[in-house]
Amino acid sequence: MIDPVSFSLTDDIGVITIDSPPVNAINQPIRAGLKRMFETAIDHADVSAILLTCAGRTFAAGADLREFDEPIADPGYHEVFGIMENSPKPVIVAMHGTALGAGLEAALACHYRCAADSARVGLPEVSLGIIPGAGGSQRLPRLVGAKAALELILNITPVDAVQALKIGILDHVIDGDFIEGAIAYARTILAKGAGPRKTSEMRINTEGYTNEFLAEARKTAAKKARGQDAPELVIEAISHAIKLPFEEGIIEERRIGDEALVSEEARALRHIFFAEREIGNIPGLSKNTAKHLVESVAILGSGTMGGGIAMNFANIGVPVTLVDISEESLEKGLGAVQKNYENTVKRGRLSEDKMATRMALISGTTNYQDIEDKDLVIEAVFENMDLKKKIFAEIDSICKPDAILATNTSTLDVNEIARATRRPEKVVGLHFFSPANVMKLVEIVRGDRTSLEVLATSVDLAKRIRKTGVVAGVCFGFIGNRMMIEGFHREADQMLLEGATPEQIDRVMYEFGFPMGPWAMHDMAGVDIMHSILQDSGLKDANPAPYFNVLYQVAEMGRYGQKTGSGFYIYEEGNRKPIPDPSVIGIIENEAEKLGIKREPMTDAEIEERCLFGLINEGAKILEEGIAYRPGDIDVVWSFGYGFPRFRGGPMYIADQIGSKALLAKIRGLQERHGDYWKPASLLEELAKNGKTFVEWSSAS
Ligand code: NAI
Repeated sequence: MIDPVSFSLTDDIGVITIDSPPVNAINQPIRAGLKRMFETAIDHADVSAILLTCAGRTFAAGADLREFDEPIADPGYHEVFGIMENSPKPVIVAMHGTALGAGLEAALACHYRCAADSARVGLPEVSLGIIPGAGGSQRLPRLVGAKAALELILNITPVDAVQALKIGILDHVIDGDFIEGAIAYARTILAKGAGPRKTSEMRINTEGYTNEFLAEARKTAAKKARGQDAPELVIEAISHAIKLPFEEGIIEERRIGDEALVSEEARALRHIFFAEREIGNIPGLSKNTAKHLVESVAILGSGTMGGGIAMNFANIGVPVTLVDISEESLEKGLGAVQKNYENTVKRGRLSEDKMATRMALISGTTNYQDIEDKDLVIEAVFENMDLKKKIFAEIDSICKPDAILATNTSTLDVNEIARATRRPEKVVGLHFFSPANVMKLVEIVRGDRTSLEVLATSVDLAKRIRKTGVVAGVCFGFIGNRMMIEGFHREADQMLLEGATPEQIDRVMYEFGFPMGPWAMHDMAGVDIMHSILQDSGLKDANPAPYFNVLYQVAEMGRYGQKTGSGFYIYEEGNRKPIPDPSVIGIIENEAEKLGIKREPMTDAEIEERCLFGLINEGAKILEEGIAYRPGDIDVVWSFGYGFPRFRGGPMYIADQIGSKALLAKIRGLQERHGDYWKPASLLEELAKNGKTFVEWSSAS
C-alpha cells in the first residue's frame, strides 16, 4: 500500500503531506503515517520548521467514519496530535478546501495556522451526534475563547478563511499560489525566530461565556439539533476545558467523546451518512454509462414547484425557460422567483450581482415552440393524468429527438405518462419537494422503459444541482408519498376516529422529531390537495371506510387549511400558527359515531408506535416490490424529504433496531385489533422467520 503520508524537504522546511483521496479523511494509516513522519522531521538535522499540508482537492475533511463503530486503533488521535504539538521545531499547517472535524483538530495541534483564502474550517461533529473528541473541545476554546468555540461548534456550518482569521483560528490567509504562499509563510515564522506555540498551553478566555450566553446557545442548539444530546455534551466538554488543566481536560473529553461515539443518536446519524453515500449505487448503472449533455432546461408550469425548480438550474448557471398558459400566470411565477431571490439577498446570503445573473438566466414564454431545442424539459403542471398525457404528446412532437422529458408528478404513473410519447425511454420522473429551491431530496422515478443513459443523466443532474437523488420505481406515490399516505397519514386519520385529537398526534410526532405533525402539514399544503389526490387516484373508492374519512369531511366542508383560515386547526388573519378548534373534534366525533367507532383516550406511546409501524410496514412492501433498492434509500428519502429526524436514522433503521420478530408480533397485534389493512408485509414475515434484518436481507439480495 502506498503510504498516505509523505515527507519531503524544501530547503530547511520539512513538508509533511497527507494524500488520501477523495477527502483525506483521517484514519489509522494516516495517523500512523503522521506519527512516523513527524518523528522523522523532528529528528532530521536539516529541518528547522515543519509544514503540514494535504494533497488533492481539500485539506482533511474529517475523520474516517468507518472507524467509529470499533474502538479507535492505535496510534490514537491524542497520541499523534500530542507528538505534533510537542514538536520542539515550529509546526505550521496550511489548509485548503474544507478543514473539518478531525482535520481541523489536527490543525489546532499545530503551532501556526494559515489557509487559502477560499478555505473553510469547522467542527461539525454535532451533526453526527458526537463531540470534537480529538482535542478540539479543549484546544479550540484555548485558541479563540470559550464563547467563539461553542458558537462555532454548535453552528455546525463551517466558517470562511476571513472569519477564521478574525476569531483567531488562523494566523494568516494566503492569496495567490497556495503552496508557494504556505512555504513563504513558514519562512516568515523562521525568520522571526518564532518557536513552538502550543495551543494546549494557552490561557482560556472566558469573556462573554455567561449563563445568558449559554441559555441562548442552548436555544440555537434546540433548533439546529433538536432532540439530540450532543450539544449538551459539547457544553460539558468545554466546561472541563475552562476548569481543568489541558492534560485532565483531555481525559474528560475522551470519556465524553467515547460515550457519544456509541450513543444511539450517533449510530443513527452515521447510518444516514452512509446511506446517503450508497444511493448512487444503482443496478444497471456504472461510471461508464453514457450521459446526455444538459445545458438548457425548460419547465412547464411556473407555479409553486416550477419556479422553485427553475432556481436550482439558474443557481448553477444553466439557462431555464419557464412555460405557462397565460402571461398572467407567467408573471406571477417569475415574480415569485424574483421575490425568493430578493429575500435571500436581504438575509445577506446572496449578492445583488449574483441575483441579477441568476434572474437573467430565467426567461418566460407562453409558446411551446420556444422549447424545441432544450436538452431537458420538466413538466410541473397540475396533478392531472389527462392533462399530463396531453402535454407529453405535444412536447414529444415539438422537442428535439434526444431531449429528456421529465415529470414532477408526486403520485401519478410515470409509465402511463411515458406511453403518451414516442420516446418512453427518454421519460423519467424528477420528483422535487416543496420548496423546490430548498428541499434536498429528488426522487428519480425510473419508468419501465427509462433508458440507462437518461437515468444516469438524472442522477448526475441531481448532484449538479446539489440535491440528494434517490431512484424509485413506479407505483402510486413512489417511495415517500406512498409511505406517507398509505402508511403514516392513513393511520393518523384512523386514530382521530378512535379517540386521538389532531393536536395530540401533531404534538407526539413533533416531539418525536418531525418539524410538524401530519395535520399541521395538511393545513399548510392544502387539505384539498390530499383530498383530490385520494379522489383522482381512485384510492378512496378502492379502500373500505374509514379510509381518510376525517380528512374527507374536513376538505368537503371547504376547510382547506391555512389558505382558507381553517382546516384541522383555525388560523388568525396573517398568522400561520395553528390554533386547536373544538369544532374539528365535533366533526371527528360525528364521523366516528356514524361508523360505530367508540372514541377513547389514546396514549402518546400508542400514537407514535402506530405512525411508525405504518411507515415501516409500507416501507417493507416497497422493498419487496423493488420500488426502493435498499432500506437505507427509504431512510434517506424520509430524512431528506419528509423531515424524519435524522438522529433516529429513518423508519427502516428503526425497524432493524426493533428486530423483525418483535415487529411482526406488534403488527399482527394491530391487524387483530384494527383490521386487515394492517396485514404484515410478506417481506417482514420472511425476515421474522429467518431472524434477519432489512439490511441483512438487502445486502444478501
Ligand atoms: P401550481 O398550481 O402551483 O402550478 C401549476 C402551474 O402550471 C400553474 O402556473 C398553471 O398555470 C400551469 N399550467 C397549467 N396547465 C399548463 C399547461 N398546459 N402548460 C403550461 N403550464 C400549465 O402546482 P404545483 O404545486 O406547482 O404542482 C405542480 C406539479 O408538481 C403537480 O404535478 C404536483 O403534484 C407536483 N408537486 C407538487 C408539490 C407541492 O408541494 N406543491 C410537491 C411535489 C410535486
